[in-house]
Parts: sequence; structure tokens; C-alpha cells
Amino acid sequence: MAILVTGANGQIGTILTRMLRQKHGREEVIASDIIRPNYDDDPFLMLDILNVQRIREVIEDFEIREIYHLAAILSANGEWNPIKTWNVNLNGLLSILDLAREFELDKVFFPSTIAIHGPTTPKKQTPQEASFLPTTAYGMSKLAGEHWCHYYHQRFKIDVRSLRYPGIIGHDSLPGGGTTDYAVEIFHEAIKKGHYTCFLEPDTRLPMMYMDDAMRATRELMAAEAEKIHVRTAYNLTGMSFTPAELADEIRKHIPGFTIDYKPDFRQAIANSWSQSIDDSKAREDWGWQPAYDLEKMTSDMIVHLEKYYLNKPQ
Ligand SMILES: NC(=O)c1ccc[n+]([C@@H]2O[C@H](COP(=O)([O-])OP(=O)(O)OC[C@H]3O[C@@H](n4cnc5c(N)ncnc54)[C@H](O)[C@@H]3O)[C@@H](O)[C@H]2O)c1
Repeated sequence: MAILVTGANGQIGTILTRMLRQKHGREEVIASDIIRPNYDDDPFLMLDILNVQRIREVIEDFEIREIYHLAAILSANGEWNPIKTWNVNLNGLLSILDLAREFELDKVFFPSTIAIHGPTTPKKQTPQEASFLPTTAYGMSKLAGEHWCHYYHQRFKIDVRSLRYPGIIGHDSLPGGGTTDYAVEIFHEAIKKGHYTCFLEPDTRLPMMYMDDAMRATRELMAAEAEKIHVRTAYNLTGMSFTPAELADEIRKHIPGFTIDYKPDFRQAIANSWSQSIDDSKAREDWGWQPAYDLEKMTSDMIVHLEKYYLNKPQ
């Protein structure tokens, strides 16, 4: 049984591909992207998500049975070209869903996001079902994507599963143009320079999750028995919520001289339209979700790994 990962060269795809290879074996997990990784990632294919015929050939040639469809243009980058963002994010997903129907694939994973939130969404403990009126092309494409996943499940019995990831923080890969990127960049700058200029205001509270938790949530969702999956749009999911000022305080416990200043840009308006905290009780009830990392544990793990990385990095 082979697995295809699209967008495998991104922040999450890099780590997810590694996790899937540990479980299923290297040869069984085909990584693909439009940008080649700068390390050995075989088996790797250059694959544009808009090239449907090529994806069809890959499914046939490699006897693909599962797809983790990560390829996307993220919230902040997406605003530079909204139509392209809609095209890549939504039409890319539609191709995957329809190929899943054509080839009767076993499972599809589609990451959704807190970017589906908008000004009408309750800001605190956002429930699973609420008013979602996203303000970005990215958010619109992901919200529509959730509905298409639900539709393909109801209509064609496609076993497509989805999580609304909050901002993902990890030490092993860099973020790709989202609104929560500051929460990764701050660690690199704190260790390299002892200072960070944040593009969000100090009190901007957003839901976040450590990469280890995000990978475990993905693994547990995909391993759950189909009867337990009651949400076929996407599950609310969260690990922690904090502001840039709170994160800076936590970093200072490890790097006492660390300083931060704030120069908010266009990403502030996007962040303001998202919720501050999430009610993920449905994921907890249906397939037993339980996060392991809070702000304190995540911060110390990030610093331990990145200090080691910069110490050993060739100059
Ligand atoms: N990182 C987060 O905090 C976060 C939060 C919520 C949801 N997500 C979702 O998780 C998924 C992965 O996110 P990420 O952070 O790794 O993003 P990323 O930007 O780091 O990676 C996305 C990858 O998709 C590739 N891509 C772009 N256009 C493509 C195309 N036309 N064909 C094939 N590949 C293409 C890019 O080259 C990139 O490597 C995305 O669907 C994103 O919406 C991420």
C-alpha cells in the first residue's frame, strides 16, 4: 500500500513524510512538491497539484492507496494572489477528491485551518460549528474545501478526514507564509541574535500547537475506525493559546537577555479576524484527542533543539 504526500517539502509535509516513512517504510511513501527539497528525500516527485493527468499517472504507477494532501498557498502569501490561491487550494483538493473516487482510494487527509474563522466567529472557545466568514482567500478556499470533503464523503463514501490545524510550531522545518509564522521565527532569532521584531501586536492571542502534537493528532485521526469519525468537514483541534508577549516572557526564562519589539503589518488584520482559543471537545470525544504540549513544555523543547542545531551548524 503506497501513500502519496502532496506539498511534502513544506513545514508540515517535511515532518509528516518522515513520520509516515518510519511507520510504513521509506519506499511506500512518495513525497511530492513543486519545489525539490535540498536534502535526499527519495522517493520524491516533482508534482504540480494542478496537473491532474500527472497525478493520475502517479496513482497508477505507484499503486497509491492513501493521499495526504498538504499542497497549498498559506494565509499571508495567499493575499498576494487570491485567485491563484483559490485555484491551487480548492481546485487542487477537488482533483484529489475526484481521483480518490476514480481509484477508490482507501483514505485521504486534508488539513484545514483556523483561517476559516472570521469576524462573526466566536473568539473564545470557538465551537465546532459556528458562523465562519473568512477574510482571506486562503480561509475561503479551506472552508469550501471542508464542505467538498463532507460532500464527497456523503455522496461517494470517500473516507476523507480533516483537522483544523491552529498555528503549528516546530524546530525541524520553517513555516511557509502563514500568519502564525512569528511563533517559529521568534525562536530562531532569539537564539541567533537575542532579539526579534514581531509582525503582530504583543497582545494578539492565537491558538497554536507543537509539531509533535500535530503529527500525533494526524496519526490518531487517520488510524481511528471510520465509525468513530463523526465530523466529515474538519475537526476543531488545539494545543495551547498565547500572545507574542507571553511567548517572549517564556523564552526569557531560557534566554534572559532576549528582547522583542513590535512592527505590525498586514498580517495583524488577518490575526484579528481569527479566534483566540478553540473548543476541540469533538476530537476528544470521537477519537480520544489529548494534547501533550503547553507553552512551557513547547518553549523548552524548541530551545533545546534549536540551540543544538545552531551549535552544530557549519558556518
Ligand atoms: N503550518 C501551519 O501552521 C498550518 C496551519 C493550518 C493549516 N495548515 C495546512 O497544512 C498544509 C501544509 O502547510 P505547511 O505549513 O507545511 O505549508 P508550506 O507552505 O510550508 O508548504 C506547502 C507546500 O505546498 C507546495 N505547493 C504550493 N503550490 C503547489 C502546487 N501547485 N502543487 C504542488 N505543491 C504546491 C509548496 O511548494 C510547499 O512546499 C497546508 O494545506 C496548510 O493549509 C498549516
